[in-house]
Amino acid sequence: MATPLAPEAEWVRVRASGKINLALRVGGVRPSGYHPLATVFQSVSLFDEIAVRLDEPGRFTVRVHGEQADLVPSDDRNLAVKAARLLADHYGPSRYGAEIVIRKTIPVAGGMAGGSADAAGALLACSVLWDLDTTPDELRAFGATLGADVPFQLMGGTALGTGRGDVLVPVLSRGSYHWVLALSGDELPTPEVFRRFDQLNPEPPADLPLPTEVMNALVAGDAAALGAALVNDLEPAAVALRPGLVRTLQTGRELGALGAIVSGAGPTCAFLAANEAAAVDLSVQLSSEGICRVVRRVTGPVPGARLITA
Ligand code: C5P
Repeated sequence: MATPLAPEAEWVRVRASGKINLALRVGGVRPSGYHPLATVFQSVSLFDEIAVRLDEPGRFTVRVHGEQADLVPSDDRNLAVKAARLLADHYGPSRYGAEIVIRKTIPVAGGMAGGSADAAGALLACSVLWDLDTTPDELRAFGATLGADVPFQLMGGTALGTGRGDVLVPVLSRGSYHWVLALSGDELPTPEVFRRFDQLNPEPPADLPLPTEVMNALVAGDAAALGAALVNDLEPAAVALRPGLVRTLQTGRELGALGAIVSGAGPTCAFLAANEAAAVDLSVQLSSEGICRVVRRVTGPVPGARLITA
């Protein structure tokens, strides 16, 4: 039976966070085209908001507002639309439709899994909107078919990711970490970065090391140790594609960051500060250097996609 469309249909709203990879170890490409990963994710307080309400069955639309909205597709290529359609196709293609509105803050193609956050948000929001009895595990399984980062974007917090980054184990993390992010005006498509990684690493190691130094620093709540342990195997590839990142990373280090790293596939750079006051200083100084589109101060870990109102 078709779901009646109420003219005064209520919005269901979800807030979804961005992520940084505190460690990102990458193995050799597999026949599937994916690379095995050993990564530690941390969600940080940069949020997209995904709002959905009922639309006619079979009708899915999306509007995108906020930062870099013009760079996000507003048709069926949008990951939030794909997420909504995936759920609808599974639970009853002739029953469900959704009007989706996204407000973006997470950089687009910036290495912080912004598209995956929107997909995670749409999965959660639509499951509530359509009153589906999906469990968190089921939502994560749907998410994994949309993108390797989507399961973590549903979960949030701090987690070890293996497989394609979609096999998750929560990681103990004490305290809150203060980050300064240098957001680029430029996009860096993830597949391009992995392709450059393949060129730079013709013989990648057969076994991926577990990022134990990062995990030990998190258990101890030791920001200095975490700063020293940050590692990203994709960084040389990102830097090869965007040589300007060398200067951005170097500037943050010279300004006293405990650690500096390209976030995921980049081009966002993340700088760890000792505390909130140091983060404020660092963000002011980085802004005045004029080497990136915008500087943002965030903390982590924070939750992943979460319902705001239903
Ligand atoms: O899973 P997702 O669509 O977000 O990944 C985008 C692209 O990044 C993939 O098509 C693939 O080229 C690359 N990727 C990879 N190995 C991973 C995750 C992503 O090669 N573990």
